[in-house]
Amino acid sequence: MLRFDDRVAIVTGAGHGLGRSHALLLADRGAKVVVNDLGGALDGTGASTGPAADVVELITKNGGQAVASTDNVATPEGAAAIVAAAVEAFGKIDIVVNNAGILRDKSFGKMTVEDFDNVLAVHVRGSYLVSRAAYPYMKEAGYGRVVNTSSPAGLFGNFGQANYSTAKMGLVGLTKTIGIEGARNGIRANAIAPIAWTRMTEAILPAEFEAKFSAERVSALVAYLVHDSCEVTGEVFSVGGGRVARVFVAEGPGWQSDDLTPEAVADNWASVMAEQPYVLTAADSMKAML
Ligand code: NAI
Repeated sequence: MLRFDDRVAIVTGAGHGLGRSHALLLADRGAKVVVNDLGGALDGTGASTGPAADVVELITKNGGQAVASTDNVATPEGAAAIVAAAVEAFGKIDIVVNNAGILRDKSFGKMTVEDFDNVLAVHVRGSYLVSRAAYPYMKEAGYGRVVNTSSPAGLFGNFGQANYSTAKMGLVGLTKTIGIEGARNGIRANAIAPIAWTRMTEAILPAEFEAKFSAERVSALVAYLVHDSCEVTGEVFSVGGGRVARVFVAEGPGWQSDDLTPEAVADNWASVMAEQPYVLTAADSMKAML
């Protein structure tokens, strides 16, 4: 059994849904957990101490260790307070699961700048700020595990979610770069693109999906990714309904000419669009151009 004894984890947005499930699983397997949740509505308005406190109470009742934080991930002060809560209560920080999220869905033409900025602030800025506040502790310890929460909507696009999909694809870049930079200090970073039945999706998923797409089926992957034994880094995984799959950004073999004209591009479009054989890194992409 993969256990987390002596590990300290922060789970943001852990008062409901996926974050709650991640926090319960990690605590059940021995981790000391900071349960962070602002306690607002799905669109990020409002705040309440209730959700984080309820999850801490449940963990404690089950014999685990946890503290609550109702700080906002989207401000530097909030992120610093979340990390400070971990260090004050448990002395260190090993694991960060950036999960907090909000929705402000609107079609592209109707979306306001405020809707765009607020969604990016929680997902992208929040994940950046909490990871940034935890990073010095991880670097010093030569150990760290970060999981960011992307989405199929970001990886593949989705109607009505220009803000959310921008944020969720942004997290892929953040994850890959933390993975590259953190490697020499034992810090691994990965992203998940989940599907689960939560308050965020209950209105759009068919009712019969509730049991199959349980949050617990996503938490199983998160727990593996943040375990000592997992050396995987810079990857993205689709996860839902009990299925886990690698999602990768790849570049096809392409078509090359010393005399690249607009007409040559048009004439060779099928080769431009070819998928195999592909490369997976910026270095290999550059090599293919030489
Ligand atoms: P949820 O609404 O149940 O949970 C999100 C939690 O984040 C809430 O408890 C909320 O209070 C908290 N939160 C929001 N803003 C915060 C802030 N500024 N600071 C601290 N906490 C804050 O939704 P769910 O589904 O559990 O979502 C968790 C994550 O998974 C989100 O990032 C979401 O975008 C992502 N996701 C979920 C999918 C699904 O199928 N449920 C699909 C793809 C991604």
